[in-house]
Amino acid sequence: MGRRFAELLRGPYGRVLRRQGLRVRVTGIATARHGLAIAPRGLDLGRCLRQVRSGGSLDRLHHGTRPATVLDFVARVPADVLLEVTALDPRRGEPAVSHVKAALARGLHVVTANKGPVAFALRPLTALARRKGRRFLYESAVMDGTPIFNLVARCLPGVRLRGFRGTLNSTTSLILSRMEEGLTARGALREAQRRGIAEADPRHDLDGWDSAVKGCALANALLGARVTPAQVRRRGIAAITPKEVRRALRARTRLRLVVRGGREDRRVRVSVGPDPESGSPKGTRSGSGPDAALVLETDLMGEIGVFERGATVDQTAYGLLSDLLEAVRRPRGKRPL
Ligand SMILES: NC(=O)c1ccc[n+]([C@@H]2O[C@H](COP(=O)([O-])OP(=O)(O)OC[C@H]3O[C@@H](n4cnc5c(N)ncnc54)[C@H](OP(=O)(O)O)[C@@H]3O)[C@@H](O)[C@H]2O)c1
Repeated sequence: MGRRFAELLRGPYGRVLRRQGLRVRVTGIATARHGLAIAPRGLDLGRCLRQVRSGGSLDRLHHGTRPATVLDFVARVPADVLLEVTALDPRRGEPAVSHVKAALARGLHVVTANKGPVAFALRPLTALARRKGRRFLYESAVMDGTPIFNLVARCLPGVRLRGFRGTLNSTTSLILSRMEEGLTARGALREAQRRGIAEADPRHDLDGWDSAVKGCALANALLGARVTPAQVRRRGIAAITPKEVRRALRARTRLRLVVRGGREDRRVRVSVGPDPESGSPKGTRSGSGPDAALVLETDLMGEIGVFERGATVDQTAYGLLSDLLEAVRRPRGKRPL
């Protein structure tokens, strides 16, 4: 996804940013297995992409003393914004939480597609960003670039959310829809991996961990909860058989991995499980393909549905772009860009 963002930055995203009067320089990139590079005057993204695509290391493009760790990189890279797009650890939210914290602490805006920091540390990270006069933005963490957090924050003033329900994991939706067509779960998973939408460890999709983390991110950001993924009642789709999928179809419904969040006895509870009833929330189509759909249950606006069709990494990359524009366009605090 980071690679796709870099490609788009060299093309349409660069043009969008220039139209807004912004010239973006990528001053550093850190990865797990492809090295890292810092260049205060800006890295040549074409060279970086070629280097990584050919299996090489970014270390060759680094100028000066090499940071010993990625945290060291975050502490040293000369920048105004950190884009955090490391792989998700659904049990701890690390290393993303530490990266975000370190960047905010030194006064960088942070934009992330990683739901870990939102599920595990939203309050302290938001408070830190506020203290530093910086933004912590995460629109693409749930439903890729489809506006959810921005929709609630900007378009529904005075509205109180009662809860939400939705199918938020594109990989399991794709697998279940392909099983409806008679394909095997394994073949469908390979398709999700080819499209770049499966998690780095696809067990996180199948076991419901990814959905649990997204449910927590939504509950924490939209319902003011402090829920962590370990507290989510969670059941994945790994044990679903083709027979069950066909039985659901015969009953004119579709099995989907559904996330629910809502207030119960003054607490916010989040659950994840295959659900034949709510796989296609009324008014939305989550039928075929790797779609995501979310219904927001509100006090003043009834139910609002949002859905996404044809998820690819491009939607997530767009979420990063929109957050980047938001971070630099509405500067708060002492050092506007
Ligand atoms: N793909 C999507 O459609 C999508 C949608 C919404 C949200 N997201 C979220 O966006 C994030 C990235 O997704 P992805 O699909 O691009 O994952 P990915 O293909 O696994 O890429 C993860 C990247 O993070 C790097 N990385 C991993 N651990 C690191 C560490 N400790 N320090 C520095 N870099 C590290 C990896 O480096 P190497 O390349 O060297 O391994 C790789 O470049 C995840 O949190 C995911 O949940 C993705």
